[in-house]
Amino acid sequence: MTTLSRKHVRHEGGASIAPDLEHAADVLSARGGRLGARLIMVDETVSTNDDAKRGAKDGANHGTVWLAESQSGGRGRQGRRWLSARGENLLFSVLMRVACAPFRLPPVSLACGLAVRDAVAATLGDDASVLVKWPNDVLIKHPSDGRARKVSGILVESAIVGGHTQHIVVGVGINVHTRMLPEEISSIATSVAIERTARGFEGAPDRASILADVLASLDRYVEHVAHQGLGLVYDQLLRYDAMAGREVQSDAGDVRGTACGIDLDGRLLVRTAESEVVAVSAGEVRMISK
Ligand code: BTN
Repeated sequence: MTTLSRKHVRHEGGASIAPDLEHAADVLSARGGRLGARLIMVDETVSTNDDAKRGAKDGANHGTVWLAESQSGGRGRQGRRWLSARGENLLFSVLMRVACAPFRLPPVSLACGLAVRDAVAATLGDDASVLVKWPNDVLIKHPSDGRARKVSGILVESAIVGGHTQHIVVGVGINVHTRMLPEEISSIATSVAIERTARGFEGAPDRASILADVLASLDRYVEHVAHQGLGLVYDQLLRYDAMAGREVQSDAGDVRGTACGIDLDGRLLVRTAESEVVAVSAGEVRMISK
C-alpha cells in the first residue's frame, strides 16, 4: 500500500482549509489509491483546471490533485462560469497522464460523470436517485417532488500531441455544504447537504470522504475507458441516464425530440418527431419537459 505522509500535502500560502478537508491527505493515504497521492490544497486560486494544466507542463505526476476552497475564475463547459462560496464545496482537478486516441475523449468524459455519480450516491445511500445528464452533469432527484437538480459539473480538458492525448485534466465541482443557492439557480441546483437532510441524515457530509470516493472511481473507470471504450460502464450509463425518455432540445436548436440512449461513441441519441434517430456528439442539450 502506498503510504502518504503529511509532507506530501502542500497547503500553499498558509492556506486556510476547513476542518472537513484538513484530514483529506490522511483519508487518501488510508485508501492507498494512485490518484491524490500528491494533493495540493490552496485557499484560493483562479481555476484548479488552470493549475493542473500548468502542473502538467511542469512535469507533475499522474494522479496529482489541485484543490481550492475558492476560485476567482472557475470555469464550466461551453465557456460558462462555475461559482461556489468559499469553503463550502469541492473544487478540484486531477491530472491523469493517459494516452488515448482523441475519439475516446467523449467516452472518457462520460466515465468521469459516472465516477462522480457513484461517490455522490454513496453519501446519500440512494443509488437510484443520482443520475448523469449527458455528457457528465450529476443530478439528484429530490424525494419530495422527484425533480432532478444539478449537484456537480465536470470539465475535462486535454492536451493532444502527435495524435494522442498527452494528459487529461478532470476538473470537478460538487456542491457539498451549500444550503443557500442563488435564487436564479435554486430551482435547478442542489447540494449533498440538502439531499442528505431530505433523506433524514443528521450531520454534515464529509468532503474528504467524497473526494476519496471520486478519486477511487475515476481510477477505476478512466484509464479503462480511454483504452477499451465504454463497454465496462455501458450498462451503468444507460441505467443512470437522466435524459432517457425525456423531451430534449440542443442549445443550438438544431435537434429536438425524445432522448433514447447513448451510443458506444458516447453520443446522445435523440428520436425526432419524424422517428429519425440523431446522434449528438457535442454542445449542450437541455430537457424541456418535467
Ligand atoms: C460545468 O458544469 O459546466 C462544469 C463545471 C466544472 C467546475 C470545476 S470546479 C473545479 C474545476 N476548476 C474549474 O475552473 N472548473 C472545474
